Amino acid sequence: MKVAVAGDHGGFRLKQEVVALLEKSGVEYQDFGTFSEEPVDYPDLALLVAEAVKKGDFDRGILCCGTGIGVAITANKVPGIRAALCHDTFSARAAREHNNANVLTMGQRVIGPGLAGDIVAAWLQAEFQGGRHDRRVAKICAIEKKYNCSSR
Ligand code: RB5
Repeated sequence: MKVAVAGDHGGFRLKQEVVALLEKSGVEYQDFGTFSEEPVDYPDLALLVAEAVKKGDFDRGILCCGTGIGVAITANKVPGIRAALCHDTFSARAAREHNNANVLTMGQRVIGPGLAGDIVAAWLQAEFQGGRHDRRVAKICAIEKKYNCSSR
């Protein structure tokens, strides 16, 4: 599995924790930045990861900002991206099993690195369950098509 990772200045330290965890776990990843706490605009970073996943260069994406909200809103503008803001392990698992979320977002100002690590692990391990959830995710794709967007 290949994971694209990014965060803005508000999520920089959390993104570094995520990178360290992926490194330690032997998960293949690419860090798209940002690389310091110098202010940047979260849509720019979120778009890099969303487009990398959309293109199929990466299987999943992880985005961090202050709250996890701005990067989630941005990533979800890209057709085929299902970004889930998760601050607990139950939601992280369900985001994969039910929603087939291909991007996880978290907020550095909301959770600590320990919980974030558990969330990332739960999210990476969980798999989409298909079945009735397939139909529901297909309906999300249908909404994208209705508004004339291509989906992955
Ligand atoms: C940056 O100050 C902050 O607005 C950003 O990291 C994020 O929380 C936006 O949703």
